[in-house]
Formats: sequence, structure tokens, C-alpha cells
Amino acid sequence: MVLSEFVEKACNQIDLTTEALQQVAAHFEVAMREGLAGRPSSLQMLPSYIARPTGAERGEAIAIDFGGTNVRVMKVNLADSQAQCSQSIKFTLKDPGGAYDYTREETQADELFDFIARHVVEVLAGDRSMLPLGLTFSFPCRQEGINRAVLIQWTKEIRTSGVEGRDVTPLLAAALERQGVRNVRPRAVINDTVGTLLAAAYKLRGVEVGSICGTGHNTCYLEPRHPLTGKPMIVNMEAGSFDGVTLTPFDRAVNEASVRPGGQLLEKMVSGAYLGEVVLAVLRTMVAERLLPAGNRSWDRGTLTGVHLSQVLEDGADCGGTKSVAQTELGLMGLTNEQLLGFRRVVESVAGRSARLVGATYAAILRYLDPGLSQEHVVAIDGSLYAHMPRYPDGIRAGLEAVLGTGASRVTTSLIKDGSGIGAAIAALVADAQG
Ligand code: BGC
Repeated sequence: MVLSEFVEKACNQIDLTTEALQQVAAHFEVAMREGLAGRPSSLQMLPSYIARPTGAERGEAIAIDFGGTNVRVMKVNLADSQAQCSQSIKFTLKDPGGAYDYTREETQADELFDFIARHVVEVLAGDRSMLPLGLTFSFPCRQEGINRAVLIQWTKEIRTSGVEGRDVTPLLAAALERQGVRNVRPRAVINDTVGTLLAAAYKLRGVEVGSICGTGHNTCYLEPRHPLTGKPMIVNMEAGSFDGVTLTPFDRAVNEASVRPGGQLLEKMVSGAYLGEVVLAVLRTMVAERLLPAGNRSWDRGTLTGVHLSQVLEDGADCGGTKSVAQTELGLMGLTNEQLLGFRRVVESVAGRSARLVGATYAAILRYLDPGLSQEHVVAIDGSLYAHMPRYPDGIRAGLEAVLGTGASRVTTSLIKDGSGIGAAIAALVADAQG
């Protein structure tokens, strides 16, 4: 097969037609209803035990944003629909130089939580006032109350031992105790999508959906009548585990090489942690078909990050960015213009599919909430893909339009920065006020 033919065929497999997107939305809506009713579904539809904030919440709280290998501890002040962060420390659980790694299987839960608690001490900087703490813990948790969250399983390739199957609040509380912190009480645990929704709804009206399009992917929404309480409650869908999209051979290769084959199937097609892996799967086939030379570097997991893909997508007519990524990251020297254009076309396909798929899932949620699209809706989004990947928001809109047609004009997507941290503070204050 010649290069242009291969690229055409591969991209046709990856790109989704309008009908395919409509089907994804239809399956997603069925999975939502099934999951919410407690029937088997790839959408876990986890209760959060929190509803939309009123905007009147006020006070000071410690927020921990544990979203993946990067963690942030903040002191947040809330008043009059405004959030102010007075202290903030960001750190990584995995030292790039290899000095430590709290995400390995060999690390025990207590070591991980002690490491985090030491950063709380730093943020407190001697402050001894009583402060509620909110933890954004961005992994699938079985939530049994606003402050009880049992980790179902790690995602994002984290493997620390002794956390799965356990409630994370006592783990954190015990670590704070060991560090001598007695004035900070963990009050709420939320998912980052819930944090994004809370932070957006604290200052904007009409927000019903919160989503993360970054290293991981997930979405939550405000269920107007939750079956557990009959009242409004935010539901963490764990949308990344949706299994209703047909996998291409490239997706199957990524899935098989992942830490948990069969799990997080939508996330493996959509999120920043995996987009580069899908592109590499296509490139590997091209090398096997002798349409590309073998690179002089090994293509390990993480070789192509979202930043590299953005560099390719930003490229002008000269393919300068694509060439630099091919040489520096993949060790592919001396590619012809046709090969560079082929590489770029693959990246466009993989990134475009991600955004359109996400848009189709938002459309499904909004159609569930408002079948006639008679109202205005806001989807609050955080994450590096939405914030930085060229044309990603346009792709989401295309997905919304494919499913909702003109109804998509009633939907606004809005970037909410640091929602997971601010949302944790809001949740802590809401829980504190509830006693
Ligand atoms: C996790 C979700 C999280 C998402 C975005 C996924 O891997 O399972 O709980 O919301 O990443 O961070």
C-alpha cells in the first residue's frame, strides 16, 4: 500500500461520521439511565452527596487537588461568589529525576498520604485556626457520604498499594495526625469533575455539567431527582469508562498495552494520557508497512504527549513543528514532506475524534436533562486539552452539533481554571455548614 492510501484508510477508521456520533450519544444516554437505575452499565454514575452551591458559601478552607501525579495544596478564601487562593503549593508524586516515586506499587498508602500531609503543613505555615479541608480525589470512588469515598480502582497508571478498596478520608486524616496537624479536619471528598461544576456554579448561573478534558477524562452532571434522595445531586459519571464506541485496530493495540486492558475505554480514545499512544499505534503500523523508516529512539509509553501533539497541530504550511517532533521525540530523521503531512493528518484525526466524541457525550447528557433543548445550558470544562490543544473547543462544538443540530446553539462550553481546587474548598465549607 502506498503512504497516501494507508493514511486515508487509517484516518477513515478513526474519524467518526455524523451518524456514528449520533449513535455514540444514543448509547451514552442508555448507559446513563441504566447506571443511574443501578443496572449493569459501563457508566458508573457515582453519587457525590453534594448539590449545586448557592454562591453564598463563605469562609476559609484547605483544598487538596489530587488529580494524578501532580498534586496541589491550597488555602482558599470564599466570599460573595469569589474564590481567592492565598497559599498554593504544587508538587509531583513522581520525581522526574527518579529520586522518589509515590505512584509505584512498592509504595504503601501511608507513605503517599504522609507525603501529601507534609505539604499541608507547609501551606499552613504555622496557621493554627480551625480549618475544614476538602479533597479532590480524581479517581473512581464509591461514595457513601460527602466525606466517605472508597477508591474502586486507580486510573491514570497509578499503582500505590493499600489504597484501592479503602476510604481515603481516614487515610488522609491519620497522615495529618502523624504530621501533628490538629486544626485541619477533612470534611469532603469530591471528584475533579464535581469540583469543576461546583467552582463554575459558585459564580455562574445555569451550570449543570462539569467535565475534565486533560490527562484524564470524565464528566459529571446535576441530577435533578437523584434516586437515592429524591433531591438534586451531582453524579460523577466516570464517563471515561464508557464502552459504547467502536475500537479501531489502533485503539485495540493501546488498550492491550495499557495497565488495565478493557477498562477506561473512552478515556483511552479521548484523554491526554492516551492520545499520543493512539498516534504511536498508527505510526508503528506505518513502520511495519515500510511507509516510515524505523526511528532511532524507542517509542515508550508517554513518548508523544499532548504538548507534542499540539505542536504538530499548530503547524504552518512548512510542517516545521511536525518535523521537529518527529526528529526530537521519535528519532525519525529525514522524513519526506508527504510523510510529515501523513503524520500530521493522523494527529489531526486522533485529536479531532477525541473532541467530537466528548461533544457527543455532552449532547447526550443535555438531551437527557432537557429533551427539547428549551433552555440555555453551560458545560464547565477544565483540563489541558480544552485549554491548550488547538481547535479542541471547535471539535467539541462539532460533536454537539452532530447530535443536537441547531439545538447546540443553546449550549455554551466554558473554561473553568483550577475548578478542582476551588471546588474542594466549596465542598468543605458546604459540608462544614451541614455539621
Ligand atoms: C478518573 C476520573 C477523573 C478523570 C479526570 C479519570 O481517569 O477515573 O475520576 O475525573 O480521570 O481527571
